[in-house]
Amino acid sequence: MTRPQSLRPELIDAALTSARSLGTPLWLYEAEPIRQRARQLAAFDCVRYAQKANSNTHILRLLRSMGVMVDAVSLGEIERALRAGYVPGTDAHEIVFTADIIDEATLARVVELGIPVNCGSPDMLRQVGRARRGHPIWLRLNPGFGHGHNRKTNTGGPSSKHGIWHEELEDSLRLADEYGLSVVGLHMHIGSGVDYGHLHRVCDSMLDAVRRANRPLHAISAGGGLSVPYRAGEPEIDIAEYYAAWNKTRLAAEQITGGPLRLELEPGRYLVANAGLLIAEIRAVKKVADKHFVLLDAGFNELARPIIYGSHHEICFVTNTGAPVAGEPRPIAVAGPLCEAGDVFTQHDGGFVEFRDLPLPQVGDFAILRDAGAYGATMSSNYNTRPLAPEVMLDEGVLSVIRKRQSIEQLLDLEADGGVV
Ligand code: LLP
Repeated sequence: MTRPQSLRPELIDAALTSARSLGTPLWLYEAEPIRQRARQLAAFDCVRYAQKANSNTHILRLLRSMGVMVDAVSLGEIERALRAGYVPGTDAHEIVFTADIIDEATLARVVELGIPVNCGSPDMLRQVGRARRGHPIWLRLNPGFGHGHNRKTNTGGPSSKHGIWHEELEDSLRLADEYGLSVVGLHMHIGSGVDYGHLHRVCDSMLDAVRRANRPLHAISAGGGLSVPYRAGEPEIDIAEYYAAWNKTRLAAEQITGGPLRLELEPGRYLVANAGLLIAEIRAVKKVADKHFVLLDAGFNELARPIIYGSHHEICFVTNTGAPVAGEPRPIAVAGPLCEAGDVFTQHDGGFVEFRDLPLPQVGDFAILRDAGAYGATMSSNYNTRPLAPEVMLDEGVLSVIRKRQSIEQLLDLEADGGVV
């Protein structure tokens, strides 16, 4: 799938139909591009979706129907996977739990259901071992370097809290043996939005780890991190080349372990980012000095990526008939309703407010923020006591509400008299 330069008219129609029916802000996803992405990864033995990117149970169900397995990082994500029909505890390992820590309630649930645990710390290994001898585990390794689209999405190297430090591999395996744990495989995830300069280095580190592990294994995982285009004209990554490098690593690793190894991939963003939009209504257009601010009814409590990472999302304005807003482009910053200066969708990490050349819309027009399918709804909050926005799925021309808008009553209900502690 290549990222279309402009929004297709039927997608704009779907956005406006949903906005009229449900109000704004709202999330709109398209099913077919998600399926296409899953097909593009079919060469891997197992594609394990990192559901933190978008954990709506309807999306999980769709991916399961494509043969995609799932990763969970919390008890809530385990329950979502179960709700979506994933079957735990079979040899297929449909669900794996990956984290750096595990709390007691989650530990009890993974043991009860036989869900393999991808351990990111020796303490986590000990806790799983104490809970159940023979439990299947993975080791998530920090190979000593990492990369991300932003320093906050780099999950490797000496400044990262993630994974078991590579020099601790042998000690961790000894610990696993001491507790009688069954080691399924080795895993590395060096960051999100990775530039592929590191690809061969990660593959070499994996091979080195397999050699040092010096034991039969069932699988290796390349982690996630595959980047997607966010800007017009940005290229897609070359999956064939990525697969070739990892497959070569797998074949070399099989020579070492002497048995077949399942090659897993753990993408989040790649499967869903380009398939989602955030739709908001324009509620004010202000002149500030010689430039304009366009204020939307969506803020960083909906889409947090710009304020956290300075991430770029293309924004287009359409009138309430669906026509693109016309006019001479002029410097415009697009911002939200929150009482906080950082609530600006057009910003650079460090540089802050970015004025983009866009045609000036009017109050009542709509703003469509693109490529918001990953780390959009899942990172939303109730800041400023704003309820979570609804989610809609477009599949074969049919629009379905896949999450209702949260109500203010639901929010306030949590604060009803909770009794004395
Ligand atoms: N596996 C592990 C262990 C992870 O921690 C992550 C993401 C993934 C896989 C999936 O990474 P992906 O393929 O989606 O890049 N909120 C940030 C991204 C943080 C990702 C955290 N971990 C963003 O909006 O860019």
